[in-house]
Amino acid sequence: MIKKAVIPAAGFGTRFLPVTKAIPKEMLPVVDKPLIQYGIEEIISSGMDQILIITSRNKSSIEDYFDKNPELEKVLEEKDKRDLLEEVKKVSDLAKIVYIRQKEMMGLGHAVLLAKDFVNNEPFAVLLPDDIIDSEIPCLKQLVEVYSEYSCSVVALERVDEEGTWRYGIIKPRQISDRVFKIEDVIEKPGPERAYSDLAVIGRYVFEPDIFSELERTKPDSRGEIQLTDAFGLLSKKRPVYGLLFEGRRYDVGNKFGFIEANIRLALKRKEFEAKIKEILSSLKY
Ligand code: G1P
Repeated sequence: MIKKAVIPAAGFGTRFLPVTKAIPKEMLPVVDKPLIQYGIEEIISSGMDQILIITSRNKSSIEDYFDKNPELEKVLEEKDKRDLLEEVKKVSDLAKIVYIRQKEMMGLGHAVLLAKDFVNNEPFAVLLPDDIIDSEIPCLKQLVEVYSEYSCSVVALERVDEEGTWRYGIIKPRQISDRVFKIEDVIEKPGPERAYSDLAVIGRYVFEPDIFSELERTKPDSRGEIQLTDAFGLLSKKRPVYGLLFEGRRYDVGNKFGFIEANIRLALKRKEFEAKIKEILSSLKY
């Protein structure tokens, strides 16, 4: 039912400087594939097949990665490297991806607003690639299920500690069922004193297209950025917006500890790496 997904990938990747001077954060490998690929795979396994990636200057390696590379394929074929050839082809066949550049860094809300023409008045998903979610049912699919039930915008939620209130949008909830909450209000990174609850917004959203008119009237914050959080806060005053406490484990790979943890735990889940990684971990002395 929801066919389109938007991946904002225009940020500087400041927390990963200096490597992000030359390599987009989204292309940093987690285990053995770029972190953005986890997001693309989640989108596809949630039933969506049209993807818009919002990029910016110095991000062309993302486009190269998901493009075909006939020269490389020819070399691999000649050398009879079948497995590698399959891997390389698989990446470029993953999905139909289009790109738009965000020319000025004016915030996540501004980036999503650039998707208006692509979305063309349909409900759509937004996936922030910094959040990798490992779950039995893909997180976006869980949101789509809630969307089908309530026919209104729905965002992913996770409980956080006090430290998390500085890092995420925090909602004012009204509980609807075990895992579903109606969002009465939301504040971007409030800190513990101003936080309404311990329920944080995680980088997965399903929006009705009316989010765009709210984005258009959202004022920039003190840093000159248009926040997606402020726009769906405005939307929640007019129409119901729901939050789902999703099932699964999330890694915040936009932060160095989350990035390292994701590498270890996701490698441990892969048969070909499991035994060796366990051996390395059990040999550590500290
Ligand atoms: C963004 C959103 C924030 C949300 C977070 C989830 O923040 O603005 O509301 O909680 O993603 O990862 P950012 O991580 O871009 O600072």
